[in-house]
Amino acid sequence: MPIEKTLVIIKPDAVSRGLVGEIISRFEKAGLKIVAMKMVKAAPEEVERFYPSSEEWFRSAGAKLLKAYQELGIDPKTRLGTDDPVEVGKAIKRSLVKYMTSGPIVVLVLKGNRAVEVVRKIIGPTSPHSAPPGTIRGDYSTDSPDLAAEEGRVVFNLVHGSDSISEAEREIKFWFRDGEVLD
Ligand code: TYD
Repeated sequence: MPIEKTLVIIKPDAVSRGLVGEIISRFEKAGLKIVAMKMVKAAPEEVERFYPSSEEWFRSAGAKLLKAYQELGIDPKTRLGTDDPVEVGKAIKRSLVKYMTSGPIVVLVLKGNRAVEVVRKIIGPTSPHSAPPGTIRGDYSTDSPDLAAEEGRVVFNLVHGSDSISEAEREIKFWFRDGEVLD
C-alpha cells in the first residue's frame, strides 16, 4: 500500500497569524495522521542546511521565479540585478533563511495514503496569488512575487511540504530523531 510519511512546516507568517490550528485541521480532515510534531525557533544555519544548496536546486528555484516574473511582466534585471537562474536561486535561498528564522515554526510529520502528493495538493502552488481557492495558500494569503520583490523578500506562503518521497525521508530525519516519530 502506498502509505507514506511527509514533512510539513507551518512557517512564521502562519504561526504569527494564528493559523496553526486551522492548517493542521485541514490535514487531519483529509485523513492524514500526525506522527511527530514540535515548535522550533530555527537558527539560520539550520534553515541553510535544510533547503538544498545544489546548483540544481538554485537553477530550478530561480527558473520558477523567473517564469512568475515573466507572467507578471516584471523585469528580473531591474528587480534582482540578474536574470541568471542560478543567481536568482541563490537570492531566493538567502531571503528564505531570513523568512524561516523570523519567528517560531511548527514542524510535523504526517502519515497516510500518498501523503507527499496529497499534502502538496492541500497546500497549493508556491505563490498564494495563483493558488486555487480550497488550498491553504489560496485561502489564507494573496501574496505574490511582485509584492514580495517590492519588499525585497520571498513570497510568504504559510506552509512547506516535502516535494518527493526521497526528500520527505531526508527532511524528516533532519528535524526528528528515530524515536520521535511515533508510527
Ligand atoms: P520551492 O521549494 O520551489 O517552493 P514550494 O515551497 O512551493 O515547494 O521554494 C521554496 C520556498 O522559496 C518557497 O516556499 C518560497 C520561496 N520561493 C519564492 O518566494 N519564490 C519562488 O519563485 C520560489 C521558487 C521560491
